[in-house]
Amino acid sequence: MNNIIIHLVAGARPNFMKIAPLYHALSKEDWADPQIVHTGQHYDFDMSDSFFRDLQLPDPTYHLGAGGGSHGEQTAEIIKKYEALCLENPPGLVIVVGDVNSTMGCAISAKKLCLPVAHLEAGLRSGDRTMPEEINRLITDSISDYLWTPSPDADAHLLASGVDKDSICLVGNIMIDAYEMLSGSIASYDLVEQLGLSSQDYGLVTLHRPSNVDDRDKLGALVDGLLEASKSLPLVFSVHPRTRERLVTFGLMKKLEDEARIELLGPQNYIGFMNLVMNSRAVITDSGGIQEETTYLGIPCLTLRDNTERPITIDRGTNTLVSVDTFLEKLKAVLASPMPGRLQIENWDGNTASRVVDCIRKIAKSI
Ligand code: UD1
Repeated sequence: MNNIIIHLVAGARPNFMKIAPLYHALSKEDWADPQIVHTGQHYDFDMSDSFFRDLQLPDPTYHLGAGGGSHGEQTAEIIKKYEALCLENPPGLVIVVGDVNSTMGCAISAKKLCLPVAHLEAGLRSGDRTMPEEINRLITDSISDYLWTPSPDADAHLLASGVDKDSICLVGNIMIDAYEMLSGSIASYDLVEQLGLSSQDYGLVTLHRPSNVDDRDKLGALVDGLLEASKSLPLVFSVHPRTRERLVTFGLMKKLEDEARIELLGPQNYIGFMNLVMNSRAVITDSGGIQEETTYLGIPCLTLRDNTERPITIDRGTNTLVSVDTFLEKLKAVLASPMPGRLQIENWDGNTASRVVDCIRKIAKSI
């Protein structure tokens, strides 16, 4: 078998923990040459470099520097720069992960050059086309050659949209591999103690979706809700750069800063953040991935969204969709109930990267 150059594309924070287990697994194979392509969508140290360090990734082989700008500007820049890279150094296989602009942008560049593309975390659907990520999922899945899914609902979506079943492989949840790879360091990290908090005695908050943070009234109502929630549970709020910018612009930051029971932190590195998740009593979030991580760890998750592309976290996990009007009531119910305890979902077992390597081995002859 020839040595296959495999591009692992990553651009935004939630991508880095998805490529890491795969990079490490492929590095052990003598037929594979995994190369990391960082689009530059996220560029701050806290949003990017700290993840490479925690996840023991080398510096990217290629850095496209395509961060910032509107969706159109950012995606166009990614497409243009990745096309140029592929023309100069064509890979044997391109792997894109998740649902961010970098996922879709690089899939488009590669397919226009007729390069084989695999999508890891394929088939998830929220059914909400106002979400930029849903558009990215639809486009990426419709042009990828290999669709590697995390759960049976994802397979069902792809089959219903007419995808050939031979292109689909249920590989499981790659984020659980990243967690398991670092679970020892995560458990022994002492961020919770450094903050003067005790395990299961605080709530963790993250918010960054445009639908929650871009409108002044909505964000104002959420801030008021968090102030109220902090009366029953101290909160740690890890603030995304987008959210920080909006809180400051809308004059809402001071309210949060003045509340002693809310600890405001910047974006956290992977190990520190997962240490906060695993020790929390509950998580309040609008993230995609955190719905899965809390389900795996058996931690109640209140998701401030109208829908989720990860329904398994509701049907089989600890997740509940809430609104600004319902989350206080739901939080009370959570605090009145015992902790759910760790849950088992098939193929969320830390072995997803090795199943992906098996898939690549099988397709290697045709690429
Ligand atoms: C992106 C993803 C989203 C993911 C999120 C995780 C898309 C469409 N969205 O959203 O799915 O959940 O990442 O964080 O791809 N910024 C910085 N520093 C950085 C990166 C961004 O200050 O390192 C600022 C940007 O300048 C911009 C804002 O944060 O003002 C948003 O960044 P962007 O990458 O466009 O989208 P996210 O909201 O982070």
